[in-house]
Amino acid sequence: MLDVRKRGQSSENKESKDGDKVNENNVVDKEVVDSKKPDINRKLPLRVISRIVVIFSLLIVVYFSSKDDKVKTFAKQSELLPGKGLVVECSQAYKDDLDKYEGCFPKECKRFVTDKVISVREAEELLAIAKKGFQLGKPAGGVSILDLHSGALSVGQRFVNIYKTGDAKNTFNQNDFNTYRVVKDKIKYAVAHHFGVNPNKIYLTYPTFFSEITSKAAITIHDEYWHPHVDKESYKSFHYTTLLYLNDYNTDFKGGRFVFIDEKFNRTVEPRKARLSMFTSGRENFHYVEKVSSGIRYAVTVSFTCDNQHAIEDPSIKNL
Ligand SMILES: *[C@@H]1O[C@H](CO)[C@@H](O)[C@H](O)[C@H]1NC(C)=O
Repeated sequence: MLDVRKRGQSSENKESKDGDKVNENNVVDKEVVDSKKPDINRKLPLRVISRIVVIFSLLIVVYFSSKDDKVKTFAKQSELLPGKGLVVECSQAYKDDLDKYEGCFPKECKRFVTDKVISVREAEELLAIAKKGFQLGKPAGGVSILDLHSGALSVGQRFVNIYKTGDAKNTFNQNDFNTYRVVKDKIKYAVAHHFGVNPNKIYLTYPTFFSEITSKAAITIHDEYWHPHVDKESYKSFHYTTLLYLNDYNTDFKGGRFVFIDEKFNRTVEPRKARLSMFTSGRENFHYVEKVSSGIRYAVTVSFTCDNQHAIEDPSIKNL
């Protein structure tokens, strides 16, 4: 005990007197000791470490490049796409269902992404409308829905009807509904044009809604948008699904890419303000949305059916 204390004391004293010198001495001492050991012992760890580093870097490169092979960017955020399409084979169930409706069968099943149908200005006007609506209530989880047709808005774990609560009256005006209708009609004609169907044979259907997605944890099953699904199986009336993005992937939010799940590899659509994505709603367009990891993602889902029994009306100021 005494010995230890003494040693401790003496070394403390040394350090306080001439600290740097002590350190130098220590280094010299160590080297002397090391050089007494055989050469291999000193070099082996270094060689092993450098090998491990090389192997791991290779593994990382291989991992990421093989991952890249499995996911392709179909529509990049930074690109202004006049139009990019991919034809896919219609699923049998989709074909069987469409046979019931004359003049609504697409020339071919596909996805089509374009940044030229809706203007940035229109997207910004819609974004302003969406934000006004979403201010009227906050959801419990990370997903909020605003349906201007029915008035449904996510509040807590439920929906409230903002047309019934009177909240909508002081929020929306005629101009908002006009903008909404103009954009909806443009989308409808774009669907008709790109899928080769008569615009009078497709009808806006339920649900058509704005979505606001944050990184907040899911509370209800409806918050879990990241599960792969087929739109037509979630909503029987769907025949053509369209998504209009209102803000930008990577600048306004991270994560939240739309992913088509295909056999060989998946294909992503990166949201971009005013980007319109249209696709047939059957299993040929199996998809999910990646979790949003930060920021807020805004989009509108505008869906169409061939079944006029499931047509819905445009939202109107009369509802207020
Ligand atoms: C595509 O995404 C799905 C769902 O996340 C996944 O199960 C599948 O492995 C992905 N496909 C490829 C080829 O990576």
